[in-house]
Amino acid sequence: MVQCPRGTRDFLPDQLEKRRAYEGTLRSVARRFGFREIQTPIFEDAELFILRSGPNVLKELYAFKDKGDRDLALRPEMTAAVVRAFVNGMSNDPKPIKVFYFGQCFRYERPQAGRYREFFQFGAEIMGAATPETDAEAIAMAAFMIKSLGLKNYKMRIGHIGVLRQRIADIGVPKERTAEVLQKLDKKLYDEARPILKDMGVKDEDMDALFQLTETVGGTEVLSMVPGEAGDYLREVVDYLSRMGVNDVEIDLGVVRGLDYYTGMVFEAEAPVLGAEKQICGGGSYTLSELFGGEKVFSTGFAVGFDRILLAMEKEGIVYEREGIDAYVVAVSDEVRKDSFGIVAKLREAGVSADIDIMGRKLGKAMKSASTVCARYAVIVGAGELSRNAVTLRDMKSGEQCEVPIAELADRIRN
Ligand code: HAM
Repeated sequence: MVQCPRGTRDFLPDQLEKRRAYEGTLRSVARRFGFREIQTPIFEDAELFILRSGPNVLKELYAFKDKGDRDLALRPEMTAAVVRAFVNGMSNDPKPIKVFYFGQCFRYERPQAGRYREFFQFGAEIMGAATPETDAEAIAMAAFMIKSLGLKNYKMRIGHIGVLRQRIADIGVPKERTAEVLQKLDKKLYDEARPILKDMGVKDEDMDALFQLTETVGGTEVLSMVPGEAGDYLREVVDYLSRMGVNDVEIDLGVVRGLDYYTGMVFEAEAPVLGAEKQICGGGSYTLSELFGGEKVFSTGFAVGFDRILLAMEKEGIVYEREGIDAYVVAVSDEVRKDSFGIVAKLREAGVSADIDIMGRKLGKAMKSASTVCARYAVIVGAGELSRNAVTLRDMKSGEQCEVPIAELADRIRN
């Protein structure tokens, strides 16, 4: 049997209905925050990602040549593409530009629970200014999204990559090797970072101070330990957040992020229930537009790992109730079978979701089908009622039924 490729999944109707419903929840939050949707291609010139995505993403890239010998790649994330679209077509629009997106991304990773080669992100970007308000707005929306889906147990950590970058530069790490060091700090692999830093001539005490910085975790009180203006900046972000009712955040200078483009505030949300692959959302502030030929524009964004947050919800016991349909039309006998098609057509025209047996089933089996498709009502069409221009309407939950004139049927079902 041919299977779908490793790390990809089919979404059968039961799952897809649930996914669409939750996607709808996120969409409605984004609109409530004043964001508008954007869509970009699933593949791009490979260069777009090579320019500034960092070593992690590059080794995971699905890159290929097309028949015209162009170097292309499936998108591993969407921020770079959104910024490219901004440079190409939105750079003169009034700022700030607030966009959101939903779609699949591709990374050649080792698949495991919560980690796929094709996965979905729901993300947002704000392009305009490097202000604490911008960062707070992005974090607040991410928190609102997680809450709207009903997830209870999660942790939001806010850091500042600028502080780490500055410290790394100060202790003598060459600029082109910063990403290498950050990659180790991201995973807290201090033992692996040591020989690399030593090789660059970094002193032991400077290394220790750097590692200690990434262990700075706590409430706003730890911001006094944050050097330079970054501490004041993060204090402002947290202040705005608390005024927006987002208080359950933690300062953590160990938030490094796997992507290379961040410059300032960075944040992540995790759901501990997921174990190893617990990061459900990540983002931060960056500038990318100047790399793609545009003017430098400060931006902040984030992406929710849609598959992961759904897994976390499932593990927390959040159950999705299948929506079902309004009505299922059942013919009592073959004699009225064709008339019942006239009735289902009228219901559909009136905006009622309605289905009908097309398998030539007898009454009992057709009623079972009505349950299978989770119909709220069965519309039972019999010769006697039909002669009075009526049908029997049966509430599938209570079992109550009554005769209803066909002319009133759609209204009765809708109300
Ligand atoms: P990221 O942290 O690489 O950030 O990905 C965002 C989220 O996508 C992760 O937190 C995780 O939940 C999910 N994710 C990543 N890889 C996989 C995978 N293989 N399988 C399942 N889920 C995965 C970004 O992509 C940035 N573009 C976010 C951003 C937007 N920053 C600024 N704007």
